[in-house]
Amino acid sequence: MTFPLIAPSILSADFARLGEEVRAVDAAGADWIHVDVMDGHFVPNITIGPMVVKALRPHTTKPLDVHLMISPVDGFIQAFADAGADIITVHPEAGAHTHRTVQAIKGAGKLAGISLNPGTPAKMLDYLIDEIDLVLVMSVNPGFGGQSFIASQLRKIEAVRKMIDKSGRDIRLEVDGGVDIVTAPQCVAAGADALVAGTATFKGGPGCYAANIAALKGEGTSLGRGFG
Ligand code: DX5
Ligand code: ZN
Repeated sequence: MTFPLIAPSILSADFARLGEEVRAVDAAGADWIHVDVMDGHFVPNITIGPMVVKALRPHTTKPLDVHLMISPVDGFIQAFADAGADIITVHPEAGAHTHRTVQAIKGAGKLAGISLNPGTPAKMLDYLIDEIDLVLVMSVNPGFGGQSFIASQLRKIEAVRKMIDKSGRDIRLEVDGGVDIVTAPQCVAAGADALVAGTATFKGGPGCYAANIAALKGEGTSLGRGFG
């Protein structure tokens, strides 16, 4: 496995051919498959639910990185766990008791992530960092693919990197939104080790996926750090 890990967001895939699209990005070198779940309440868009995650599960052995943009969220954790999610990421604003939500994810035997909106400070992690497996820094306001990267989030990535290193725990630092071949190296330089990419992975159609993923990994440049 080489860092940064690339997690194509299937939000930018052809929804009429989702299984095929997941198999195509898997074959093209995706490390994780990022699944954006939206409820039309927490964010102003509606996407997919646990039944679709369950239907996609047989199409890949790569980890399903499920990003829940739904509120309330607690009642759906078990359903996504049962559907085959490997990583379940939630927003602290999605419920009154984030620590309990993280415990529910861990109790379901899954890796737990916390996602920080652009306006949410890194400090939110202070009393969660010892429990979680992933931090997802949103570099756009959640709800839609294809938005522009918010540069102020690079400072947050740096701050979260320091917190993770201080914790001594094995926690992935993932960035989501507007990641492309220009912003990917900036995220990695700031300390990210996993990148979500919807538009930048799926542009050009299936024939381009492998080259798109390789470019995001920085292959052929100093960005491809080739850890382990
Ligand atoms: C936004 C989603 C992202 C989004 C990324 O709410 O969480 O995963 O699909 O899309 P791009 O890479 O196109 O910005
Ligand atoms: Zn996402």
